[in-house]
Amino acid sequence: MPSYKIAVIPGDGIGPEVTREALKVLSKIKKRLGASLEIEEHDIGAARYLKSRETLPDRVLEKLRGSDAILLGAVGDPKVPPGILERDILLRLRFELDLYINLRPCALLEGAFTPLKNKSPRDIDFAVVRENSEGLYAGIGGTFKKGTPFEVAVQEDINARAGVERALRYAFETARTRGPKKHLALVDKANVLTHAHGLWRRTFEEVAGDFPGVRRSATYVDAAAMDLVRRPEIFDVVVTNNLFGDILTDLGAVISGGLGLAASANLNPGPASKKPNVCRGLFEPVHGSAPDIAGKGTACPPAAILAAGMMLDSRGERSGAAAVGNAVGSAVRAGRIFKKDSFDLALSTS
Ligand code: IPM
Ligand code: MN
Repeated sequence: MPSYKIAVIPGDGIGPEVTREALKVLSKIKKRLGASLEIEEHDIGAARYLKSRETLPDRVLEKLRGSDAILLGAVGDPKVPPGILERDILLRLRFELDLYINLRPCALLEGAFTPLKNKSPRDIDFAVVRENSEGLYAGIGGTFKKGTPFEVAVQEDINARAGVERALRYAFETARTRGPKKHLALVDKANVLTHAHGLWRRTFEEVAGDFPGVRRSATYVDAAAMDLVRRPEIFDVVVTNNLFGDILTDLGAVISGGLGLAASANLNPGPASKKPNVCRGLFEPVHGSAPDIAGKGTACPPAAILAAGMMLDSRGERSGAAAVGNAVGSAVRAGRIFKKDSFDLALSTS
């Protein structure tokens, strides 16, 4: 039986609590997997930074690179200035491992809460493909005359033809295979960001030629934000740049059960044989470290559990992934997601 090396970064705040639950679920479904899981935890995050000023040491990065997948709880702590842990750990991993897709499903489960009136699981069921390796997240720019009244700050929005094209291709492929709607919505601001999003629109049209079975539309981000609230049923797959994807997926999460249920996969898709020894996926809840509720045992773990499910799915472990999805689904249906051990219970009864 093959073995997967899973690197686990519990991280900060509620990260360790929710990761622990996800690992429990993984160990419960061991028998349904076609591989064994070799779990290695890494103490990366605020505690390490505050002790040694280390964020992601190169030797740890190399270990992570050599793993089959990474499961991350959350990073971020009020004792550390904003941006340090986020940029040096999470964004560095996304960039160094070239995890250029951030796939964020937004599907309302039966029994989960949506603040949208008269919308049911039938209406809220889409996936966001967020470009995850460039855009405004590239970190290019600088400041001039810092700290003076004449300070100037510049932060560049990077849109490479190759980067845009690979994200669009993945999104078209997702729309082709996801379900019956077979629709892809490009979300941009091409009416203002004419250079950058002109490139997205042109590439969108070119790539569409290779996916004749996929219907498509292009929408401005402000209108898309409104439609996500007003008529989410029009969406099937949404593709967008890094920053818009960040913002829209919090909106997507809150209409589809809340951040406690939103999982995500940072992926370098493609045939496994192409890059045999390089980690191709980092799986994490969409939520952050929530320091205000950390350590109280009240954090809601399903997002981390669903992220572990996405990890299994990415390894082709379909039955394990389905078991995780069903367990969360039945716990949510039964209104048990805030109860301790509800997932263990759901697993033993599913
Ligand atoms: C997310 C988070 C991150 C992001 C932060 C923590 C850097 O908000 O994964 O959505 O902006 O991508
Ligand atoms: Mn975010």
